[in-house]
Amino acid sequence: MSTNNLPLPLARGPMNAPGLARLRKVLTDAEPQLIGEVARLGMGDPDAIALWYGEGDMPTPAFICDAAYEAMRAGQTFYSHKRGTPELRTALADYMSGICSQTVDIERVTVTSSGMHGILVAMQAILAAGDNAVVVGPVWPNAEATVRVVGAEPRVVSLNNENGVWRLDLEALFAACDDSTRLIFVNSPGNPTGWMLERDEQQAILDFARARGIWVMADEVYARLVYDRPVAPSFLDIAEEDDAVVVVNSFSKSWAMTGWRVGWLTHPPWISEVLAELIEYSTSSVQPFLQHAAVTAVTEGEPLVAEIRELCRVGRDIVTPALTAHPRVVMAPPVAAFYAFFQVEGMTDSLEWSKQLYRDTKVGVAPGRSFGPNGEGWIRLCFASSPEVLNTAMDRLTDYLNRP
Ligand SMILES: Cc1ncc(COP(=O)(O)O)c(C=O)c1O
Repeated sequence: MSTNNLPLPLARGPMNAPGLARLRKVLTDAEPQLIGEVARLGMGDPDAIALWYGEGDMPTPAFICDAAYEAMRAGQTFYSHKRGTPELRTALADYMSGICSQTVDIERVTVTSSGMHGILVAMQAILAAGDNAVVVGPVWPNAEATVRVVGAEPRVVSLNNENGVWRLDLEALFAACDDSTRLIFVNSPGNPTGWMLERDEQQAILDFARARGIWVMADEVYARLVYDRPVAPSFLDIAEEDDAVVVVNSFSKSWAMTGWRVGWLTHPPWISEVLAELIEYSTSSVQPFLQHAAVTAVTEGEPLVAEIRELCRVGRDIVTPALTAHPRVVMAPPVAAFYAFFQVEGMTDSLEWSKQLYRDTKVGVAPGRSFGPNGEGWIRLCFASSPEVLNTAMDRLTDYLNRP
């Protein structure tokens, strides 16, 4: 069960509404998030097969929910520490030290109200008007949008694609940086591509960023969803404590906690106070009962992480052969994350195609155009669902692709 059962979200209002000119132009000019536009067709419909969002159909397991209830009932209902309870920050520092090849000190961990909120506060700390941020795409649309929201300019450098295999052109990435570049944003394992940075590429980016005084923001929320090794290479494996590197993580994906809105940043210690202030002026703290449950998730949740990864591996093995065998589809098996990102021959408008697919089959996917202009012609499908759901979806999707 996922967002299927939520009431219908409101469509974005008409863009000529009176008063619009009094809002920030960067917001009123922005294209609406297109994934939501397709999802609106089917939200509230119990028959929808919702593979449009980045979440699976597993509810958060009881051992995590129970920890939240217990904390609530025990009175953990007051304002909490801005950067997270010492209990959770310690658990996360231990967890990070376990999955990357350095010891992460608690001073470098800040708990945020989701990975998204972590990206927002870190960008607010780093970017201002006149700055630009170079973003590796195609990518989850919120990264580029958040650069705009904080008043800076996003510059997307596209991965190259050859027969569905995505590769980073480091020269193109570096060439896109100029004197106003303050940040390189890279999401690996990548949403929507399922692509993953290798160690030598990370090292080259870090060396370049150090030499040019540029921040690296590494979105590693899919670090545990990897199919060819236990954990994805992290910038924390190679960065020094004081490097201008901020790594974004989240409980959403690997612990089935998308609705909880809890994430964390790992960062140099000298940015801590600024992050604390930015959290104070936005959420003030993450709900203490959620933080208590997050401690349970991270300290007792390794079997759950393994289960979710296995569910995704099975999902990937259902979706990949069905799609790659189709003559109209170009796609390589994703090495990580939980998305199939595929090109459909003859499709010119991924938004209309996705809407029509939903109307005809009830299979909900995300249009590639949502991930930047270089995503047009592509479709993203989240395979973090049960095999039964995915088998039905693939039958209907391949049938749809077979239509003349
Ligand atoms: C690449 C990437 N980063 C960050 C997030 C944010 O995760 P959350 O805000 O749920 O923690 C998502 C969610 O889809 C994502 O795909």
